[in-house]
Amino acid sequence: RVKCLSCSTELYQYQGFWYPLDILESLISIQENFKAKPTDIFLCASPKAGFTWLKALGFAIETRRTRFDNDDDLSTNPLLKKLSHDVVPWLELDFTNNIKSRDPKLPLLATHLPYTSLPESVISSGCKIIYMCREPKDTFVSYWHFFQRIILPNNKYSKEAQVSASFEKEFELFCEGKSVGGPYWDHVLGLWRASIEKPGTVLFLKYEEVKGNTLFSVRKLAEFIGKPFSDKEEMERVPQRIVELCSFENLSNLKVNKEGKRLSVGPLEIDHSAFFRKGMSGDWKNHLADEMKETMDQISKEKLLGSNLVFGSTT
Ligand code: A3P
Repeated sequence: RVKCLSCSTELYQYQGFWYPLDILESLISIQENFKAKPTDIFLCASPKAGFTWLKALGFAIETRRTRFDNDDDLSTNPLLKKLSHDVVPWLELDFTNNIKSRDPKLPLLATHLPYTSLPESVISSGCKIIYMCREPKDTFVSYWHFFQRIILPNNKYSKEAQVSASFEKEFELFCEGKSVGGPYWDHVLGLWRASIEKPGTVLFLKYEEVKGNTLFSVRKLAEFIGKPFSDKEEMERVPQRIVELCSFENLSNLKVNKEGKRLSVGPLEIDHSAFFRKGMSGDWKNHLADEMKETMDQISKEKLLGSNLVFGSTT
């Protein structure tokens, strides 16, 4: 057991990864009960690696035949009224004991779970998995800020309640792998290896590359899920409209995401706006001291050795 100091929650290690107790209990329950369908598509990411964005993109692409077939799609899309976590079900939050009934028309599900802890049926039924990886220094900086905004059971933000560890202490824990869903590097490598072994089943995306050329990534995602854009859709600029709809600028300025209701995660709550901070690559430069950068880069170097994976954009 370790205390995640920034959110003042104890984390427990299970199958090599660290979880708050509520999430761990759900995880065990879904491992036993959840039955995936071969047509399911899983959107995966570690916390703070671009999960909210991946869900928005996946949802907009997947539902476009019904949502994008008229001119006013941008005023009616559910993403304008709901946080993406509320339109794509979240495996470990929504499916404990398999209680949630699923929209039969939506094959998407999302999860923070590492590859090796996914329910057995997800792997055996060959569901498609799309993973968003983010450069660890930016993931950590985002993680730190996010957990400052957690609302504790006493209704105080963790930052105000002064329960947080120092930035340096949290950095140390993250580097040791003791973060929510961590070790971050092991999470990434599990999905990276799966994407190499099963290229048609697992798509590995990098936040930095999606950010650098979102239009290209949107087309890639559509192809991967088996719904490439038709010539007619291209002429109607559907991929571009999806990019615009899901952009940080658009989503972060929506009323629902600025003022939206808090999302409950176990005993903790979170404002929707906490999922939108800067939405850029390289913000770590504004937060990490030189030696912290060196430490993290060294860990990345050692962890990725022999994997052929390079963090950040290579294009
Ligand atoms: P920053 O804190 O660096 O700004 P997650 O969704 O996995 O919780 O990750 C949150 C991170 O993704 C935050 O990063 C957030 O700002 C960023 N983000 C959220 N929506 C985004 C979008 N539409 N485009 C780009 N980044 C986005």
